[in-house]
Amino acid sequence: MKHILSANQFNKDDLEKILARAEVMEKQCKTGKIEKLLENKIVACIFFEPSTRTRLSFETAALKLGAQVISAENAMGNSSTYKGETIEDTTRMLCSYADIIVIRHPKAGTLDLAARVATKPLINAGDGINQHPSQGLLDVYTIKKEHGRLNNLNVVFGGDLLNSRTMRALVPFLRFYEGNTFYFVSPKELALPREYRNELKEKGISFKEMENLKEVLPVVDVLYMTRVQKERFANNADYEKVKNLFILKFQDLKNLKKDVIIMHALPKVNEIDQQIDTDPRAAYFRQAQNGLYVRMALLLYVLNL
Ligand code: NCD
Repeated sequence: MKHILSANQFNKDDLEKILARAEVMEKQCKTGKIEKLLENKIVACIFFEPSTRTRLSFETAALKLGAQVISAENAMGNSSTYKGETIEDTTRMLCSYADIIVIRHPKAGTLDLAARVATKPLINAGDGINQHPSQGLLDVYTIKKEHGRLNNLNVVFGGDLLNSRTMRALVPFLRFYEGNTFYFVSPKELALPREYRNELKEKGISFKEMENLKEVLPVVDVLYMTRVQKERFANNADYEKVKNLFILKFQDLKNLKKDVIIMHALPKVNEIDQQIDTDPRAAYFRQAQNGLYVRMALLLYVLNL
């Protein structure tokens, strides 16, 4: 049985298989001729944290493939978790109803606990600051589609790198390809956590850390901006101190390459000037759209279809 728990679980072949399937899904969506390969299947989308794109694109993906969907959009407050049920017990029950279980949870490692008792494939839709593999997959799909390649790219991650699970889900995929250089750019307060920095070093990934975007703007091919993760701060005062420290300004555009892509997992709050949204280099809405095709491919992948 296949669970999708982390971007780190994939090899290059798995990745390329999913990307190729996502391309087929995109074509089928565009022609309106979608094979209903999930007919008679049920997909459960259980979200213990807010979501717009991830949950709704998984649900749309399931429906387009002919599956039916059961869903808890506020599982922290509206499921039996509120009464004190463990994630293991909740998972056991979900597996007795549905064929695929998609879960988002604020606590890192929760999906690993769930996987120990799951009898149906689980998909991690984000667990705390840890992982968000379907996002990593749609991001790499987007880079390939926009740039036509996945190698020899200067990739800049900017913003809240202390708490970004989307960054942690994209780096492992880009590592499969040669000549990619990683830059981690953030204010000191939001820099990579020490344990993650050590992990990158242990894996032999070379990277540079800096505090300011200025010197990388002229060389960057993929500028991956992140939201300051308000919900991960111990208190609001700490968040207020850092929330506006890192912003991509409209005037920065003139220093960027003509073919750079500006990415963001969304939602964005204040970290990208709104005027940038209509620049063709802003890829984030196209990126979110790609999530549908990639999640269709992923639902088929976990059922070996
Ligand atoms: C991201 C997430 O939840 O980690 N959003 C998403 O899934 N599209 C990024 C974020 O919330 O900042």
